[in-house]
Amino acid sequence: MITPVLENDGLNDGLEVLAFTLDAEPDIIGAMDVGLNEEERRRAERLRLERDRRRFVVGRGQLRRVLASKLGISPSDVELEYGPLGKPYLSHRMPARNLRFSFSRSGAVAVVALSTGQEVGVDIEAVLPVPEADEIAALCFSASEGRSYATLGTEDRLEGFFRRWTQMEAISKALGCGLGQSMSWNERDWVVRRFIPRSGYIGSVVIPNGHSRDVTMH
Ligand SMILES: CC(C)(COP(=O)(O)OP(=O)(O)OC[C@H]1O[C@@H](n2cnc3c(N)ncnc32)[C@H](O)[C@@H]1OP(=O)(O)O)[C@@H](O)C(=O)NCCC(=O)NCCS
Repeated sequence: MITPVLENDGLNDGLEVLAFTLDAEPDIIGAMDVGLNEEERRRAERLRLERDRRRFVVGRGQLRRVLASKLGISPSDVELEYGPLGKPYLSHRMPARNLRFSFSRSGAVAVVALSTGQEVGVDIEAVLPVPEADEIAALCFSASEGRSYATLGTEDRLEGFFRRWTQMEAISKALGCGLGQSMSWNERDWVVRRFIPRSGYIGSVVIPNGHSRDVTMH
């Protein structure tokens, strides 16, 4: 079942986040598979674990269904293109060219973020202990996020880590960055919304700060 997970605080104009589980019944998996193209099926086949194959098929199938319902077409007619580092976009042949999306999954949960007219990035993570969290924070977080993380008490550290991690990943996904790429952005350039996709998970979704900003075309 797909559920909206972003609280409407009046500032979310044109921004939507939908969550669903990736562990589906066989008949649902079969229905999702029908919408996938050859390249996506080959990608699923390359996955070693049966569970990962199923989750990929359901994730991509649901993404296609969500996009198709927004575009008024069938899931198998949704055409995607990819940026240089793998960010998926709607093909320029699709109607509603100003519809932007971002996809994230963690464990058995996935989300699709949709935005009209502005680039969007989303990331979710299962909130589980990370023994190297402080080292990762020192290595990956921006100076200001690193400083605010370091002030957190022990009881707030884990959630604080994942809030900042998902925010960082959401911004890099909005920009279409790749892992390990040097990243330079200013958090103030982004509007960040937090959400809980399912109990035990945390998510951040970002859009550019300032409605006058144009979406970067690729
Ligand atoms: C590639 C990357 C965006 C994937 O993120 P992830 O957390 O591993 O996985 P998620 O489930 O959240 O996102 C995967 C989805 O993002 C999308 N995606 C893939 N590459 C992307 C990119 N370059 N930009 C935006 N979205 C991308 C796809 O929809 C993908 O789904 P799919 O695998 O079903 O096709 C991420 O690993 C990355 O490179 N981030 C860059 C930031 C970074 O370097 N962080 C570390 C700093 S030390």
